[in-house]
Amino acid sequence: MQEIILASILGLVVLRLLFHTAKKRREPLPPGPPKLPLLGNAHQTPKTHLWLKFAEWGKIYGDIIHLRLLGTDLIVLNSHKLASDLLDKRASISSDRPVTEMYRICGYDDTFLLMPYGESFRTQRRYMATEFSPQAVFRYHKHHENEARSLARNILRDPESIWPELRVSFARMIYLTTYGYRPETVEDHLLKTSISTVQSFVDLSKPGKYLVDLIPLLRYMPRWMPGTGFLHTADYYRNMRARALWGPYRWWKDHIDSPDLIRPNLCTGVFEKSGGKMSEEDEYHLASTAFIALSGGLDSIYSTVVTFFLNMLLHPEIQRKAQAEIDALTRQRRLPTVADRPQLPYTRSVLTEVLRWAPPGPTGFPHFMREDDIFNGYFIPKNSIVMANLWNIMRDPVVYPDPHTFNPERYGGDDNEMNKVNNAFGYGRRSCPGQYFAHSGIFAVISTVLATCDILPFVDEAGNTQLPDVEYSGGFISAQKPFTLRVKPRSAHLLEILGD
Ligand code: HEM
Repeated sequence: MQEIILASILGLVVLRLLFHTAKKRREPLPPGPPKLPLLGNAHQTPKTHLWLKFAEWGKIYGDIIHLRLLGTDLIVLNSHKLASDLLDKRASISSDRPVTEMYRICGYDDTFLLMPYGESFRTQRRYMATEFSPQAVFRYHKHHENEARSLARNILRDPESIWPELRVSFARMIYLTTYGYRPETVEDHLLKTSISTVQSFVDLSKPGKYLVDLIPLLRYMPRWMPGTGFLHTADYYRNMRARALWGPYRWWKDHIDSPDLIRPNLCTGVFEKSGGKMSEEDEYHLASTAFIALSGGLDSIYSTVVTFFLNMLLHPEIQRKAQAEIDALTRQRRLPTVADRPQLPYTRSVLTEVLRWAPPGPTGFPHFMREDDIFNGYFIPKNSIVMANLWNIMRDPVVYPDPHTFNPERYGGDDNEMNKVNNAFGYGRRSCPGQYFAHSGIFAVISTVLATCDILPFVDEAGNTQLPDVEYSGGFISAQKPFTLRVKPRSAHLLEILGD
């Protein structure tokens, strides 16, 4: 029985592959490395740090590359021009998302991060885009500043806790702004479930981790069969996702009229705009939107701020220059605020350079072609996955001379130059709806930390200074490996202003 099922599944996969390669077309596919029958380029494509391999292939085959991974077409765009031409200008056919079978089984295909462009997607995306628009994000500045101050206090108290503290601070920042709920500790059960769900999403996003993503029919295998462990993992993840989606939403709903609800927040904003009347379907869309804020945002913001700390250690002169800019404005008599941004161009340049030097999502998030297209003289098949290699785009030597060097001076304090780095937030209709939120939250943290703390390298027992190696993880969201550092208060007075 088992053999019959497996043979049928494999038969279907082979038929699909044969059918796929037999498709007729006039224009050629974009160039790319030679392919093996059935495997395509799967044997040459690494599981991690894809952006480095894509950049390497770019030097051989050009800015647009075609790969085939076990029957799926993958188009890589290595330049800003091509990414913008396909994902911005042809957004009507390039704005879907590829959805793997495991995402589907776990229920993630119902959240707008993974939805195809359509009615439900537009509703959820509108909720987030409206409540996190530049005008609306302004209302959350106080939340961001309070969290930044609490973070600075905690890392000064216990520098060793910096990395978990950073993650929890940002999770709290997102929770506060989406649900009006402030978890007091890492042990908060709602927050814990949400953070575990983000980790499960990361696990599901690992290319090649689950065989069912390659052979979707495997999901129908009876559970008693060997090799169906993924179905139990899926049950676990699906239940956890449901708790993370409804738990904090119910808290918000139960506290709509309570003084414990911290305002403004995304859920209340959407609810009030609906005149206080929401259908069951609207409520589902709202709960789902609020839920995806943490999954979409937490790891990206975290990665950005770890890169900031790394570069402040590697470039103490840049740290001192940014501190001097902040001191000149505040005279060390107050803490910087998000509203100070226009007066702090160098600090903004540091943030911009962090996003350019190590974009948290180096290959962006994949888009999916809805229709066949002829693009730049090449045939782009329907159902191709399209990835913009943001890492390579941010290191284009024509736009960013000496691109591998971390150098905030390169923008000359000019906002037009800094705005080019907005591509770290992706392209077209799927570009990041949390980007204004991210800018405000990260600015609050880095300006507060620079104003109040000296970020110093670790010194070992023999008195040697230890600088961290630059070492980034290899998944969709990439972050510098945690490292040891020292954090000291810049003055007793600033410590006092920071408060308890
Ligand atoms: C430095 C921080 C961040 C970076 C660099 C970043 C980057 C990105 C990128 C590259 C994409 C994919 C865009 C594309 O498909 O072309 C994306 C999508 C998304 N981001 Fe962010 N993001 C950040 C923070 C946030 C935050 C704070 C939130 C929420 C509060 C958020 C929510 C989302 C969501 C929901 C999507 C999916 C949008 C869609 O599919 O339509 N992100 N982000």
